Amino acid sequence: MPVALWNTHAIEIIAGIQGQIGMSRRQSLLKKRRRRSVIAFEMIQLDRSAAEPLHEQLYRQIRDELKSGSFADAASRLPSSRALASDLGISRLTVNLAFSKLQAEGYLCAKAKSGTFVANPLPENFLVVDRFAGNTCGRIPRRVQKARQPIERRARTSGRVKAIPDQRAGTQFDLGALGAGAGISLVPGLPAVDEFPIDIWERLRSQALAQKGTHLLRHASSRGDADLRKAIATYLCDFRGARCHPDQILIVGGMQQAMLVSAMALLDPGEPVWIEDPGFHQARRVFILAGAKVVPKPLDDEGIVIARSPKEKIPKIVHVTPSHQYPLGVTMSFERRKALLEFAHAYDAFVFEDDFYAEFRFAGPPLPCLQGIDSFGRVIYAGTMSKILYPSLRLGYVVAPEALIDSLVKIRSTMDQHSSAIDQATLARFITEGFFLSHIKRMRKIYAERRAIFIKEFNELLGDRFTLQIPEGGLNMVAWLKQEQDFPKISSVTVQIGVKPSPLSFYCVRATPKPAFVFGFAGWTPAQIRESLMKLALSLHRARISHGKR
Ligand SMILES: Cc1ncc(COP(=O)(O)O)c(C=O)c1O
Repeated sequence: MPVALWNTHAIEIIAGIQGQIGMSRRQSLLKKRRRRSVIAFEMIQLDRSAAEPLHEQLYRQIRDELKSGSFADAASRLPSSRALASDLGISRLTVNLAFSKLQAEGYLCAKAKSGTFVANPLPENFLVVDRFAGNTCGRIPRRVQKARQPIERRARTSGRVKAIPDQRAGTQFDLGALGAGAGISLVPGLPAVDEFPIDIWERLRSQALAQKGTHLLRHASSRGDADLRKAIATYLCDFRGARCHPDQILIVGGMQQAMLVSAMALLDPGEPVWIEDPGFHQARRVFILAGAKVVPKPLDDEGIVIARSPKEKIPKIVHVTPSHQYPLGVTMSFERRKALLEFAHAYDAFVFEDDFYAEFRFAGPPLPCLQGIDSFGRVIYAGTMSKILYPSLRLGYVVAPEALIDSLVKIRSTMDQHSSAIDQATLARFITEGFFLSHIKRMRKIYAERRAIFIKEFNELLGDRFTLQIPEGGLNMVAWLKQEQDFPKISSVTVQIGVKPSPLSFYCVRATPKPAFVFGFAGWTPAQIRESLMKLALSLHRARISHGKR
């Protein structure tokens, strides 16, 4: 026989009114309000003859009622288990079983000394993303609409997010910082990742795991793998003219993190950092993220111009790329290096030496790094594996003055503790077993060949429209337009055909150089370079873009 619940609501109100005798007026009003918000589950029909247990039937019917959202909006409190049991003529245990299940699934929540309430939002509203989407005739219950509103509202973000100069949105972030998807060529900054010896790396990785076992799966040192720091210190002293020992080294997740950790260790909000203009766009973003006041500094043919007006504040950090200015490719002169170190020494500033392309120099004598000639302890030297090995490895290193290293480690340990222990151990082996040096040597040869082909083909195919500036090192080149007015048309052609050098203006803050494009050549085979340059030359011809003088 079905049991009908017809008047839980009424019973509770009556009970409330009866209990009012002897209460203060305020108390009784409060109680009345609470009683009125109790949900009346008039629809419940329990069938004692059904195979489904009574507590399951009760659970299912209350859940369906809550999901339908058809009960009055103001009602959110459930009748007490005692009242419901008595209404339905069932035991309190049965009601409690149903309530517990609804509670466990997130439909109800119990509040101590207050009772049991309908959860807000209901699980359907936060678990099922779009139950009602595309269902044009289905009415979205008011309760569901209400629960959705906060999700659809634009998130209020920090000033920091707005301050970071980055025009990308949505899926543009999926392509990474270079925005180079499949079918795109001659983008600056991409190394030849297909030449990376994955088989050797995998073998060394297995060996490292076999030797160190689960030790590599635990949290690791915030300074970095000891073997790796030792190997890097030796490499830098032998091949980059650095003067350092392993305890001055911090392993980081690439150059950006090297900058961020350094900035966070040295800067208070609003303190100035000088950057090169044009310069590495990510440096500007990172220093802004760290709260710095970023001051763009012009360049001349010796490197960053360090002259300042008497009113101008002294920078805490000067970010420079001395061995290969990015993106112009200027090598900082010895005189400018000395002047920069003296400036830092005199004003208690630090020079952040970003030595990202150090290994790829194709002309001129090898130059020692700035850190190696610094006798004042003012240089924070940083290198990255992004160009030598591959960028998604996210490994790099900082060589800090002794007085600073522990502060950097402290920041890193707070930020994300450390880089992958397995990758660090693998890299340590890659270096100590000689693969690192032989890989650099091999890549230098490959890049020298690609560079020569790029220069030859570019001058032949596009020399009437551009003047190619040939740097001594690096994996990109600047091509200046001969007819400046053609810049917008050329820009749109490059985007359309997917041969995508970056406009030089992309790297500028205040600088307004003549129109030019920065081409990358390293990540493409000689045949691909030729094909891309031919495609560009042909497309410019078809677009009737004028020639300049050769
Ligand atoms: C000047 C400069 N430094 C460093 C990097 C590499 O940064 P990361 O090590 O964070 O990949 C680049 C990449 O293009 C760069 O242009």
